[in-house]
Amino acid sequence: MKILTLCLGNICRSPAAEGILKSIISSDHFVDSVGTGDWHVGGHPDQRSIDVCKKYGIDISQLISRQLVEKDGEDFDLVLAMDKSNIDNAKKILSTKYHHKIRLFAKHEISDPYNSALDGFEIMFENLSYAAEKLKEELEL
Ligand code: 4NP
Repeated sequence: MKILTLCLGNICRSPAAEGILKSIISSDHFVDSVGTGDWHVGGHPDQRSIDVCKKYGIDISQLISRQLVEKDGEDFDLVLAMDKSNIDNAKKILSTKYHHKIRLFAKHEISDPYNSALDGFEIMFENLSYAAEKLKEELEL
């Protein structure tokens, strides 16, 4: 299965979600992450996301931010968004024929921690980890 995690900047939530999923599912599956915005394209994840992942044994420091493109709709089986605004934005980028592949990563929205204190990143990590385990079960990854 090919899974794409999606957020706004591709520097906080979706790279962490990518790292967490890769750490718990079989390497037969392919996981990547993207943002709907282009501000951080070419850059590494936010240091606070790198640090919280590192604390739990996951290295996302080498990931590079990129923006969602139409071809991702063809290439991936599922596009897993962090919040509803990500879904709205993704639907503006991807053709209608791919919209059925887009859904939330978690049962609830994972809010943007960018302007939060450091504990916002801990909460993000906990929520992503819980949701990743649920996805693994649901999709038998
Ligand atoms: P992310 O967080 O969508 O989880 O990567 C954000 C990172 C940067 C910005 C917004 C959200 N920004 O506006 O630059």
